[in-house]
Amino acid sequence: MTDWHKSDWRKLPRVQMPEYINAGKLNAVEARLASYPPLVFAGEARRLKALLGKVSTGEAFLLQGGDCAESFSAFSADNIRDTFKVMLQMAMVLTYGAKVPVVKVGRMAGQFAKPRSAPTEVLAGQELPSYRGDIINGFDFTPEARIPDPERMLQAYLQAAATLNLLRAFSTGGYADVHKVHAWTLGFTGAPEAEKYREMANRISDTLDFIEAAGVRGEAAHTLQTVEFFTSHEALLLEYEEALTRVDSTTGQWLAGSGHMVWIGDRTRQPDGAHVEYARGVQNPIGLKCGPSMTSGHLKALMAKLNPKNEAGRLTLIARFGAGTVAEHLPRLIRAVQEEGANVAWVCDPMHGNTIKSKSGYKTRPFDSVLREVREFFAVHNGEGSIPGGVHFEMTGSDVTECTGGVRAVTDEDLSSRYHTACDPRLNASQSLELAFLVAEELSSRRKVLQQAEAV
Ligand code: PEP
Ligand code: CO
Repeated sequence: MTDWHKSDWRKLPRVQMPEYINAGKLNAVEARLASYPPLVFAGEARRLKALLGKVSTGEAFLLQGGDCAESFSAFSADNIRDTFKVMLQMAMVLTYGAKVPVVKVGRMAGQFAKPRSAPTEVLAGQELPSYRGDIINGFDFTPEARIPDPERMLQAYLQAAATLNLLRAFSTGGYADVHKVHAWTLGFTGAPEAEKYREMANRISDTLDFIEAAGVRGEAAHTLQTVEFFTSHEALLLEYEEALTRVDSTTGQWLAGSGHMVWIGDRTRQPDGAHVEYARGVQNPIGLKCGPSMTSGHLKALMAKLNPKNEAGRLTLIARFGAGTVAEHLPRLIRAVQEEGANVAWVCDPMHGNTIKSKSGYKTRPFDSVLREVREFFAVHNGEGSIPGGVHFEMTGSDVTECTGGVRAVTDEDLSSRYHTACDPRLNASQSLELAFLVAEELSSRRKVLQQAEAV
């Protein structure tokens, strides 16, 4: 047991967290949550950490994706299934193209709380507190909805538990069996990348027929019938996180019981702030968002705090700079990691540095910028001799029109037709698949270059 305690964050400066007006109600909710079971088990978090250790050495690739913000109103089996399905398709494209195992982590089952760029929003001359995610306040633009309500944490917990339950069922109950590679396609993706997916699925089916004919059975065959799927979210609302933090009886170490992996946002990564203090003490794998303002000094201080034992798989650095600026920011951080001899997994979030306001007034992300940032991320790692370990992005299995571009081009005028996100614009299923093919290409050309270098 360490000298850290789950409530130590309360002594430190906090940002991006709500002020609850009714302390009695807040305390009652915290006590209820603290009496509920955790959502994940420590052994699972350790398993993910081991897999992320492989990501850090290039022996596996991380695919992390899901909603910007899960919402109470969009909670349904179909939405969970469709997001899961697209993640399976993407993972298949990556595994097939890159020939490495893909570690699958959803921004799901707990991704509710949102940091905001401004404390208030103005609409038609009225100014109200910003929406901070369904776990905190309501999306409706009314003074009542925007009051932080602690009871929302209970609803979020129940939704996270039910979501995780379905994800576990899909992962091991037969749905994710690789023999169903054809069945994961979504009805509306009639685009060229869907055709490309079908061709790849045919080749996979052929291979499966072959290995079955060759008599592969038992453990090896079982591996193909299930997937490991993990959950993650930003550990932003620390009252919720603390209430679900438990001591793992097998090791005596603390565990964030709210999800397998939690990350620290770009706005809450102050080395002496509440969020870093919280994340420092739990044994889960931790993500750290790295935006343009991160200096090598900040990164070194954060690595020392968050991973003092330099454990592989403990720390995933999620770079999110914006297309056109990766070469300016990423090299100094890669060098900071190299100077410290730190074990980290490098992941690219090509979403959060590429948000713009469209002419029609919607918050959007041009798909070209998303692709460009991914390419730049690979190029910088190739140049620095470091390892591009994964991608992190906001996506949905639904046929939304939130990011412009893609082969089934979404135009500025289209945005209004199916703009459903509760927060940031997400890639739709077709754009997600297109992105997966691009990443697979990058990985496979990297592999060829490395193989050639070895052969020389
Ligand atoms: C997010 O991932 O939803 C997010 C808010 O990211 P960042 O902290 O990188 O802005
Ligand atoms: Co977001």
